[in-house]
Amino acid sequence: MKIAVIGAGNVGATAALLIAQKELGEVVLVDIVESIAEGKALDIAEAGPVEGYESKVTGKTHDFAVIEGSDIVVVTSGVARKPGMSRSDLLHVNANIITSVTENIVQYAPNSMILMVSNPLDTMCYVAKVISGFPRHRVFGQAGVLDSARFRTFIAMELNVSVEDVQAMVLGGHGDSMVPLPSYSTVSGIPVTHLIPPDRLAQLIQRTRDGGAEIVGLLKTGSAFYAPGAAVAQMVESIVKDKRRLLPTTCWLEGEFGLSGVYVGVPAVLGKNGVESIVEVPLTEEEKTALHKSAEAVKEDMKRWEESRQK
Ligand code: 2OP
Repeated sequence: MKIAVIGAGNVGATAALLIAQKELGEVVLVDIVESIAEGKALDIAEAGPVEGYESKVTGKTHDFAVIEGSDIVVVTSGVARKPGMSRSDLLHVNANIITSVTENIVQYAPNSMILMVSNPLDTMCYVAKVISGFPRHRVFGQAGVLDSARFRTFIAMELNVSVEDVQAMVLGGHGDSMVPLPSYSTVSGIPVTHLIPPDRLAQLIQRTRDGGAEIVGLLKTGSAFYAPGAAVAQMVESIVKDKRRLLPTTCWLEGEFGLSGVYVGVPAVLGKNGVESIVEVPLTEEEKTALHKSAEAVKEDMKRWEESRQK
């Protein structure tokens, strides 16, 4: 397998490192900033002898021809938010970047699948889908694995138990209206609703929703990258090894969960073809309302992008 990572910033480089460490395939890193991709790729390759991995990792400035033949293209290009900004504030600047990146993907890797990471995530998936014309199983996004990982971390911290035993599901858009689902979140199969009182659980849910902003506030100069990079590597692994893991994934919906014509996070099986299937699960009325509200917020951003394109 050949995996291209577009954008050699913190998220792209971290994803590339973890993909290389897992020996999932040849990694090609591309960035527009002079020689940064070459430098980080070489650095990752040079960690191989110490860490004991043998993946081929190369980098290239600007020249998208190197992604030719890629099976998966991870897109991390664009700007990250600064303290006080919402992900939606990045819409116009990042939409232009993602448009140009997607045009290059179509030219050089027309049979690839696009794993979107740039923000605002759900709308950037939409931009990539519109520009590429790829089918929906080949254009999807990373967000739910990250948001669920944050929820899992907070649950484990709260209960003082191993994070390994905590499973959680966060659906919806990767924004302030994301939908953590306590009813599908468990510690070794025990619903968290049996273990954490409702008011405390509500606080953990809010901390999960604010999880990205919490890191932005602490870092001050950019956003999270270790956990986003790890989430990317997990999704890539499921595809490369055809593991068919069921992971919250940002998918284009065509009627699932009563939603159409929108990208939001839903449970999906990831395998060698990308999104193999979307798994519909029953939601409470409250959860359904929250999911639809979150989808509305994504549709607003999609509309803003469509309007700006027509000008
Ligand atoms: C986050 O939630 C950057 O959106 C990303 O940290």
